[in-house]
Amino acid sequence: MTALHRDDSASLSEDDFNYICQFVYKSAGIVLNASKREMVYRRLTRIVRERKIGSFSEYCRLLRAQSEQEESYFINAITTNLTSFFREQHHFDYLSQHELPKLLETKKESKRIRIWSSASSTGEEPYSIAVTLLEALGTQSSYWDAKILATDIDSNVVAKGKAGVYSLKNVEDMPNNLKNKYFKKGRGEYESQVRAENIIKELITFKQLNLLDSWPMQGPFDIIFCRNVLIYFDKKTQSALFERYYNLLAPGGLLLLGHSESLGLYQQYFENVGRTIFRKPF
Ligand SMILES: C[S@@+](CC[C@H](N)C(=O)[O-])C[C@H]1O[C@@H](n2cnc3c(N)ncnc32)[C@H](O)[C@@H]1O
Repeated sequence: MTALHRDDSASLSEDDFNYICQFVYKSAGIVLNASKREMVYRRLTRIVRERKIGSFSEYCRLLRAQSEQEESYFINAITTNLTSFFREQHHFDYLSQHELPKLLETKKESKRIRIWSSASSTGEEPYSIAVTLLEALGTQSSYWDAKILATDIDSNVVAKGKAGVYSLKNVEDMPNNLKNKYFKKGRGEYESQVRAENIIKELITFKQLNLLDSWPMQGPFDIIFCRNVLIYFDKKTQSALFERYYNLLAPGGLLLLGHSESLGLYQQYFENVGRTIFRKPF
């Protein structure tokens, strides 16, 4: 194995960088450009170390030759998975103060609630939804057919979400009553970790799904979270996704976007009911 030094940065040739940009765009819809070169450099450095490969160009040759076998590993390594519990708290406030009480009333016959966290990363988002939902259902929870689908392109983060194990630091900002009720603190060698309790785990199904591919689920969903993923896509991909989200939402259903995301021209098909909260009309 040849060691990779910082001054190997020159070895990320224009040609290899462009190939990587095209590969990531085609596989995941993620747009990389010159401003992301440093980020690509850092992630490639990790990849070649893990793969025990001597240079970026050697890795790019491998990627070109074995695109299919390498795609999943490479995309896992290149995605940005930043997330946290109750990120953008105002979304969860809207759910608990407005949307869930309304759904509990309008759905009191069917008792069916479906929520999709469509770029769920390591699971903090769907677990935050599960906690909010269970708090709203209270003692009635066992009578309801409530399900949360959590999907992401990155198989590593999907596995992490499924495991439901987090560091104490991850949950430090969560109110104590929720933390104690829905997460179990580890003991002994696991004392710096918490594990999601089965009561929230059972609500969530984690699956790997590339948003660019066809979607196997039928819907309709009452609420779809599509937060902090659209920013990586171009307008064309965003528009195609908005149409698909619209079609999968129940009439009156909610679409929640990330803090710096907007519906653009698709805004006309939705009602804006809160900060980055959009309702499909009835
Ligand atoms: C920054 S995280 C956002 C996580 C969470 N939604 C939040 O707001 O905290 C973006 C996630 O989008 C996922 N992602 C990127 N491209 C994707 C695609 N084409 N299909 C599905 N997920 C994708 C990444 O793997 C990553 O976990």
